[in-house]
Amino acid sequence: TGHFTYDPGFTSTGSCESGLTYIDGDVGQLLHRGYSIEDLAEKSDFMEVCHLLLNGELPTPKEKEKFVHDVTYHTMLHEQLANFYRGFRRDAHPMAIMCGVVGGLSAFYHDSTDIHDEHQRMVASFRLIAKMPTIAAMAYKYSVGQPFNYPRNDLSYAENFLYMMFAVPAEEYVISPTVARAMDRIFILHADHEQNASTSTVRLAGSSGANPFACIAAGVASLWGPAHGGANEAVLNMLQQIGHKDNIPEFIERAKDKDDPFRLMGFGHRVYKNYDPRAKVMQKSCHEVLEELNLDDPLLELAMELEKLALSDPYFVEKKLFPNVDFYSGIVLKALGFPTSMFTVLFAVARTVGWVAQWKEMIEEPGQKIGRPRQLYTGPTARDYVPLEKRG
Ligand code: CMC
Repeated sequence: TGHFTYDPGFTSTGSCESGLTYIDGDVGQLLHRGYSIEDLAEKSDFMEVCHLLLNGELPTPKEKEKFVHDVTYHTMLHEQLANFYRGFRRDAHPMAIMCGVVGGLSAFYHDSTDIHDEHQRMVASFRLIAKMPTIAAMAYKYSVGQPFNYPRNDLSYAENFLYMMFAVPAEEYVISPTVARAMDRIFILHADHEQNASTSTVRLAGSSGANPFACIAAGVASLWGPAHGGANEAVLNMLQQIGHKDNIPEFIERAKDKDDPFRLMGFGHRVYKNYDPRAKVMQKSCHEVLEELNLDDPLLELAMELEKLALSDPYFVEKKLFPNVDFYSGIVLKALGFPTSMFTVLFAVARTVGWVAQWKEMIEEPGQKIGRPRQLYTGPTARDYVPLEKRG
């Protein structure tokens, strides 16, 4: 019934109008509200980028102060939510815990679940951006058997996250400005990326009128997969598996082999058919961080050699497969002290602002409809029902 276009994977379907993020995949350009990602990563900080995505403009100094206050006001998690964590196995993947706890937020913050109330939408947005680092750090602390750290509102967003992750009661935690800046930059680089799988999931969930906490939980679930946010974890595992420069050609050959499910993780993108601009910033950040922390990670050299060999291979050239944001992010995160299993969680923390801003944009659009794709039916045609005793 009715006519529709069959477009599996939505390779040619525009699902919405949006004023947040512009990508020109052919030249490798990414803009948020008109500002280049390079400028934002170099000159701004994550709170400013959050303000920009949510409100359309970079904040004035006064607006920034208020915005930071509004976010930090909500950093604590309902004390009862700590009980959630204790129900999980210690060896649970932190993304599994994230799916559960973020989903559980709507059971706690009833006064910000009415999507038709502008004030409640705003409070829910602040709550989600503010609480994600707390939720993420608690997932980590639970997995290593250390006490949870309460957020500290005297610290910046990135510093507070590092503090909640790595501080222990027994000793003073000194936050290195280099580490905090690198963390903040990672948050900026992952803040939004138009209609990717998780953002589209958030919009689809939200199109039914579901509350924002439930919608963001759907986004977290969608982000988990290795083709999306799980790629940063998969890249590091892949580099460790490759182990030595001499093994690179073998893995490149495997990536080209259609009978082998192996792909070069951190390579290729649905929209970028050129170098992902975020990968360039990340690569630079990678060098800076390792240098300033006086670390020499052989994985960086391995990654650069892999990039060089892949980009000189006709397969990757013809298919326009370039490094994406996640190719270098894992090496930076490792240098900052994060275990591999937390990489995708960090992506979720950073992307929350994008999810929330896109959800708000959709809800505030007049005449917005429920998302409801069609399908090509491939099952049997209508047939007569056979009673149980006559089957077989
Ligand atoms: N290694 C080897 N071959 C690849 C790769 C790769 N990483 N990526 C794509 N190809 C090939 C693919 O086999 C296909 O070949 P053919 O046309 O002969 O069938 C062609 O390139 C096009 O690939 P596709 O899978 O049709 O493209 P897509 O737009 O559906 O997929 C992608 C995009 C990102 C899922 C894919 O490139 C991929 O799996 N990359 C590795 C995972 C990864 O790094 N993901 C992070 C993406 S950036 C961060 C984020 O958004 O979360």
